[in-house]
Amino acid sequence: MRSPDLVADVAGVLVSEEQIRARVAELGAQISADYAGRELTLVSVLKGSLPFMADLMRAITIPVSIDLMEVSSYGGTATESSGLVRILKDLSSSIDGRDVMIVEDIIDTGLTLNYLIRYLRGKNPRSLHICTLLDKPARRLVDIPIDYLGFTIPDQFVIGYGLDYGEHYRNLPFIGVLKPEVYAAP
Ligand code: IMP
Repeated sequence: MRSPDLVADVAGVLVSEEQIRARVAELGAQISADYAGRELTLVSVLKGSLPFMADLMRAITIPVSIDLMEVSSYGGTATESSGLVRILKDLSSSIDGRDVMIVEDIIDTGLTLNYLIRYLRGKNPRSLHICTLLDKPARRLVDIPIDYLGFTIPDQFVIGYGLDYGEHYRNLPFIGVLKPEVYAAP
């Protein structure tokens, strides 16, 4: 059962606000150096990557355009992805001939991103790379080439900094794990 106080539901902090800030700055500097002299289109996958996208884009010093996609996996549960992906919001602009980077919150089984990569490749970008804040390799079902990675985490369901459980906890500024009783039926 959920408490009215979000922080009271948190069993522990896995990645602190300070750690996120420092790593995002490093990723932004690395991306800016790697793409120096070019222009980059960042494609964020809503809703979970919203805070990461907002912070990462401001840590990048080369010209960027942004676009937003929203996908939902269906047929799964609140903590398990199914691999069946539905596009709820498509790109607003063409990525034909552009350098594109997918900005993701977390890669778990890899099924969602595997679908997105194939979908975006079909739109003929000049290049397509992947930046994810979190990687949970223990549960990977398909191989995903990660170009920029924030943190590798153990096989735990995490919330905060955009990530949700039942649409809650996205606004916590750190990555944490919930107390077991939160997952118990209300
Ligand atoms: P995948 O298709 O299994 O890689 O799952 C990708 C999506 O599942 C992510 O973009 C998240 O929205 C969600 N997800 C996977 N693991 C977690 C987690 O630990 N906490 C919150 N959401 C997660």
